[in-house]
Amino acid sequence: MFERVDFYAGDPILGLMVEYANDSNPNKVNLGVGVYYDENNVLPVLECVKTAEQRIADPISARPYLPMEGLPGHRKACQDLLFGKDAQVLQDKRVATIATIGGSGALKVGADFINAWFPQAKCYVSDPTWGNHISIFEGSGIEVGKYPYYDKATGTVKFDELIAFFNTLNKDDVVLLHPCCHNPTGVDLTQAQWDELLQVVQQRELIPFMDIAYQGFGEDMDSDAYAIRKAVDMGLPLFVSNSFSKNLSLYGERVGGLSVVCPTEEEAERVFGQLKFTVRRIYSSPPSHGGRVVDIVMNDEALHKQWVGEVYGMRDRIKAMRLKLKSVLETKVPGRNFDYLTTQNGMFSFTGLTPEQVERLKTEFGIYMVSNSRMCVAGLNGNNIDYVANAMAEVLKD
Ligand code: LMR
Repeated sequence: MFERVDFYAGDPILGLMVEYANDSNPNKVNLGVGVYYDENNVLPVLECVKTAEQRIADPISARPYLPMEGLPGHRKACQDLLFGKDAQVLQDKRVATIATIGGSGALKVGADFINAWFPQAKCYVSDPTWGNHISIFEGSGIEVGKYPYYDKATGTVKFDELIAFFNTLNKDDVVLLHPCCHNPTGVDLTQAQWDELLQVVQQRELIPFMDIAYQGFGEDMDSDAYAIRKAVDMGLPLFVSNSFSKNLSLYGERVGGLSVVCPTEEEAERVFGQLKFTVRRIYSSPPSHGGRVVDIVMNDEALHKQWVGEVYGMRDRIKAMRLKLKSVLETKVPGRNFDYLTTQNGMFSFTGLTPEQVERLKTEFGIYMVSNSRMCVAGLNGNNIDYVANAMAEVLKD
């Protein structure tokens, strides 16, 4: 009966987690999945989250269904973080925001909404992008294409090609953009480039869909949201999916949000209703625990301040690892340029290793990276960085 069902070869990122867990090499290093580990190679529970958990006085209290759109405090947290606390667009009530099951859930609800209300739209993603972007949009029945982005030769954005490509797109085509900490390359647009790109988005009446999963890991909370706020200032309609997995270290709680910026309050109300209906059709309503933590941390002034400090602590440790790896590799592999390690932003670095070199790192050294050469820099620490640098130098020699 099920003979026709295709074999699933596994996910290129999540599959690595399983391989890593099963590897008996005592020196193994996990630089695959985008997860932040601290200097002791431990997945941190943020102090602000610990306090929030304590404030949820009775963790075995009753669990009512949440509304389809999630907790009001969770939704407000998304809006304040993305658009700025006092943003005019929020005062004008032009943003429809729902709490979602992680950033992936936000993308899925957004993609289903787009397929229902803009059925002609195609979605264009950066080349390369996070693989699940393609899977989620295609899974919602939307045709996905790629726009030029990363230039292997220079390690920068192919900006002229990108602009020329956007100029060929049709009204209501969706362009999926990474406002900061591009996944997988770590190569971001400058603010001037965003200004130019968003002009084209406006002229061609494209629908920008910004996926922000690493806010606070690039420059800072506000600069990382530059593209979002610029699009709002320009009066563009806009979809934003956000995730609290990384910046609250709440991966397994699956907490995120989907916000749709609309031209008027009346349209925002309609969109909000349809987002709720979309949720109802997929999973009815979000789970409650993670949403309660988000609500408490983000809406309490002292906890929020503590949270920002903790995120910047993670950001700074990643930056320090980038610097250290660069300096070690420069000595070990003279003549090769490792500047990319410090010019790229966020958790990820595109190393330019070949799939064969990545495979050798795994099989010979127990070092796990994604086969497209993406390294999660947040998996490096003082204890493993020399081991990783030596191994990289070894595979780069041949
Ligand atoms: C990643 O890119 O590694 C993370 O976003 C985790 C995932 O779901 O792929």
